[in-house]
Amino acid sequence: MNTNKKSLEFCVIGCGRLGISLAVFLSKQGFIPKAFSSKSRESAQRALGFAGKGKVYETAVDAVKTCDLIFITTPDTLIEPVCEQIAAQGGFNSASMVYHLSGALSSSILVAAKQKGASTGSIHPLQAFAPYEKGQKSPFKGINMSIEGNDAAIELGKEIVNALKANSFTIPTHAKTMYHASAVVASNYLVTLEHFALELLKEANLSEENAYEILEPLIMGTLNNIKTQGSINALTGPVARGDDEIVSRHLLDIDKKLPQFSSLYRLLGKHTLDIAADRGEISDDARKKLAALF
Ligand SMILES: NC(=O)c1ccc[n+]([C@@H]2O[C@H](COP(=O)([O-])OP(=O)(O)OC[C@H]3O[C@@H](n4cnc5c(N)ncnc54)[C@H](OP(=O)(O)O)[C@@H]3O)[C@@H](O)[C@H]2O)c1
Repeated sequence: MNTNKKSLEFCVIGCGRLGISLAVFLSKQGFIPKAFSSKSRESAQRALGFAGKGKVYETAVDAVKTCDLIFITTPDTLIEPVCEQIAAQGGFNSASMVYHLSGALSSSILVAAKQKGASTGSIHPLQAFAPYEKGQKSPFKGINMSIEGNDAAIELGKEIVNALKANSFTIPTHAKTMYHASAVVASNYLVTLEHFALELLKEANLSEENAYEILEPLIMGTLNNIKTQGSINALTGPVARGDDEIVSRHLLDIDKKLPQFSSLYRLLGKHTLDIAADRGEISDDARKKLAALF
């Protein structure tokens, strides 16, 4: 690590789930917690207790003035106004390295710090953080974290991610929204999709617990196929085989018994047909019949 002593000292503004975990696991790796500030003194005090070093400050600007490396870990909607307030009160200078950890927002919301000469970046852990519990395992270890920002923020960001024993990758600032949309589809919408599958299996007379157990090897096997063969080659099933009769039977049953899922089945089918057509393995006739059903 080529980080110098000064840039190892850091402060956390917003001592919630991520702010506290970040402080705890960075301090275990030799980074030095200098200052904590939060909406409530109790949260900042809790962060200090867990991190073991540093000081609690009533105002964000006083905390920020103690060091160059600054993490603003407030809720997303407050990052920009908090940054603006610190900047207006003279908290940033050209040595400041200011980060937030939002997945949806880019470093461009830290413009107030940038205007004071600071380097700005965002570091996003692809992980769900629960409130920190004393002695817990690191939620950062082995996960993937995106970094974007100016060159200096990216360089130090890589060292921060490396210290957390996570893997870093960089994305352009303008691509942050699309990156976050991808994470939402990969995680949240996967839940929606599996919920849909479980509802269909419950309608086939299986209990909720049994339904998941029955589908689990299929789900895991499919994820493994995506990993080893890619998403286009991983596709199997009636659409990939061009079997419009089976699909038509699904639709008759779903339209009759679970009509709230009819449009979702059709929309997913339409996009699945695009993947099958890309592979070029189904006939034109089958493609047309399936397209008409969807
Ligand atoms: N949690 C996750 O799974 C996760 C994952 C990836 C990224 N992130 C990102 O991490 C950031 C923080 O999320 P979180 O889940 O840690 O949120 P959180 O648990 O709600 O914590 C936010 C903290 O900000 C503090 N705060 C609120 N207003 C403030 C203000 N005006 N000034 C200073 N502090 C203020 C709150 O203070 P008090 O406690 O004092 O009221 C709270 O402790 C967000 O950008 C989020 O997108 C979160």
